[in-house]
Amino acid sequence: MNKELIVLGIESSCDETSAAILKGSKVLSNIIANQSIHEKYGGVVPELASRAHQQNIIPVVDVAIKSAKINKSDIDVIAYTKGPGLLGSLLVGSSFAKSFSFSLNKPLVSINHMQAHILAHFIEHKEQKIPEFPFLCLTVSGGHTQIVKVDNYNEMEIIGTTLDDAAGEAFDKSAKVLGLKYPGGPLIDKYAKNGDINAFVFGKPKIDKLNFSFSGLKTSIMNNINNAVQKDKNFIKNNLNDLCASIQESIVSILIDKLEKASELTNINNIAIAGGVSANSYLRKKLLELGKKNSYNIYIPNFEYCTDNAAMIAIAGKYKYLYNDIVTDYSESASARLTF
Ligand code: KG4
Ligand code: ZN
Repeated sequence: MNKELIVLGIESSCDETSAAILKGSKVLSNIIANQSIHEKYGGVVPELASRAHQQNIIPVVDVAIKSAKINKSDIDVIAYTKGPGLLGSLLVGSSFAKSFSFSLNKPLVSINHMQAHILAHFIEHKEQKIPEFPFLCLTVSGGHTQIVKVDNYNEMEIIGTTLDDAAGEAFDKSAKVLGLKYPGGPLIDKYAKNGDINAFVFGKPKIDKLNFSFSGLKTSIMNNINNAVQKDKNFIKNNLNDLCASIQESIVSILIDKLEKASELTNINNIAIAGGVSANSYLRKKLLELGKKNSYNIYIPNFEYCTDNAAMIAIAGKYKYLYNDIVTDYSESASARLTF
């Protein structure tokens, strides 16, 4: 089997249009076009996202191929995000991938976006520790919060999930209450660095098994802040760092507690994180501390492959194609609520 397979990955599930070229497990290019249009609306507007994907997809793929210094005829496989995500956005990427596959006469592989976040750990990178199977992965993004038992590249089981909001949503919605621009997660991370984690205490959920809930926490944060602002209109401005640190502490401690419980229940000590929220510096720090306390092997993805990107779709495509020999039919359609 050809070890140096060249894969074109295409990602368009939310508000990033991305294309990447992977050779073996090495990234030759990973181009991401962000959509700043959503900032002024405080969240992703689906219709605007699909329109922006339509404008971006051809130039982004073109730049990915050119900066990888390959010809389009060198591509062996095309991998695209089938779901989950915004349907209109997914349709742009999947239609383009199908047409390109047809015109180049190259095999097509459909990818689950959440599995791709996990497989980003296998992208070759200096200093990157590759997880050993089986491992547990806390997959935390703007739309999902899952604990996944990963037995192999293509064998994964969701053993815990959120019953309402995702962790990224908890970050973004709290940031919106604080008047921070979308997406607020990275800004909370930034301001929290100079804040006191114990300055404010918010309600913590009591949820069964390995599942999560963030909607109660969100309400507690909103009520506390709104009440305080009524008494002092400068409350947010005067307490921004402490508010961010306390909110971040609340969200991260919920995640860390469940991850520890998952390890106890499964007896698995190889622990990874993935998805946009895995870029959070406090989550990374607390996970390393937990690893030290319990002698876990901790795997933290390279920063640039945490948030949405097509390199993760390409590596997932490589494994699906090489190990499962799966080729996607053109009749397969994008799926907004795809699970596994
Ligand atoms: O995986 P991702 O790029 O897109 C989805 O698949 O949803 O995740 C985006 C989420 C957003 O909610 C964003 O606020 C959050 O990841 N995020 C962060 C950080 N960087 C991105 N949350 C907290 N701290 C960060 N440093
Ligand atoms: Zn994502």
